[in-house]
Amino acid sequence: MLDSASKAFFHLFARSGTLKKLASRYGMRQPSSFARRFIAGETVAEAIEAARAVEARGMTHTLDMLGESVTNLDKAEAATGEYLAAIDAIAAAGIGRGLSLKLTQLGLDADKAIAVDNLRRILARSEPAGFFVRVDMENSPYTDVTLEIFETLWSHGHRRFGIVLQSALYRSEQDLARLNALGAGVRLVKGAYKEPKAVAYQRKADVDAAYARMLVTLLADGHEPAIATHDPVMIDLACRTARERGIARETFEFQMLYGIRRDLQMKLAKDGYRVRVYIPFGREWFPYFMRRLGERPANVAFVVKGIFGER
Ligand code: FDA
Repeated sequence: MLDSASKAFFHLFARSGTLKKLASRYGMRQPSSFARRFIAGETVAEAIEAARAVEARGMTHTLDMLGESVTNLDKAEAATGEYLAAIDAIAAAGIGRGLSLKLTQLGLDADKAIAVDNLRRILARSEPAGFFVRVDMENSPYTDVTLEIFETLWSHGHRRFGIVLQSALYRSEQDLARLNALGAGVRLVKGAYKEPKAVAYQRKADVDAAYARMLVTLLADGHEPAIATHDPVMIDLACRTARERGIARETFEFQMLYGIRRDLQMKLAKDGYRVRVYIPFGREWFPYFMRRLGERPANVAFVVKGIFGER
């Protein structure tokens, strides 16, 4: 993991409109392109192809049509329409039915009521078709509102519907206790965003320690726990905790990102654990890609090699 100054640097890049446009124009053109390691492609057809390959290796998936920080309601409407079309395409393809999405993609920054309405429209289409929809967790200014929207819709009876908590945030252990009591399905992550120390642990060791505590609580008291990490220490802890407490392998799942630690994904699946791969696709891939670079220096070297060619 990079130190927090480097992480902040990549997050600054992620918000650059000019770089985003440039990257969208050049980044995904070639099949060997540098972004392709982490993103399945720009179209839902490419995502479906990637999902089929994941299924052939004995794993499941959740598809994420990339997009976030939409401030214009026309764009939020377009994203909602694309999600509805993606639901139909995925159902027609006969592959597993899981989706991940972000509330700012549906217009949360522009108009909360419209964003909620957009989410309801997606759920109205996805639930009868047997999809599970997961609301990703964005950076800390959105934590409260994301949980509030999730819990309101949960109280309205939406059940094929889950949420994400980040161990980096001080508040998350309390949020986990509440969501476990509610019966909601939580995906546990460390947190991808650069956060201020008023709300989040700054040292990786503290984020990891919180992750370990939350992982044990989630396995013991959670509902369809999703342990989302590539960290072998956390994965070992989950396997050990499940073994010691007699928690069956089929009752929880590991989740990992497309293109990251494929060896570990395959090994866990071979050992009989449930593994779900998060498959991102779409034209708005730049901020997601920047977050993946910010997590690991080796990825930057990989991109540089991709651009200038290996010598
Ligand atoms: P950690 O960062 O300690 O990495 C452990 C090991 O994993 C590394 O040593 C390396 O081998 C490998 N690794 C990790 N990141 C890598 C990368 N980018 N490239 C190559 N190797 C890498 N975050 C969030 O804030 N909101 C969300 O909704 C989600 N959703 C989500 C879904 C799923 C399925 C996953 C797996 C992750 C997320 N995340 C997320 C991202 C998460 O918060 C976190 O940033 C990354 O998973 C990296 O952290 P690790 O837990 O893997 O540990």
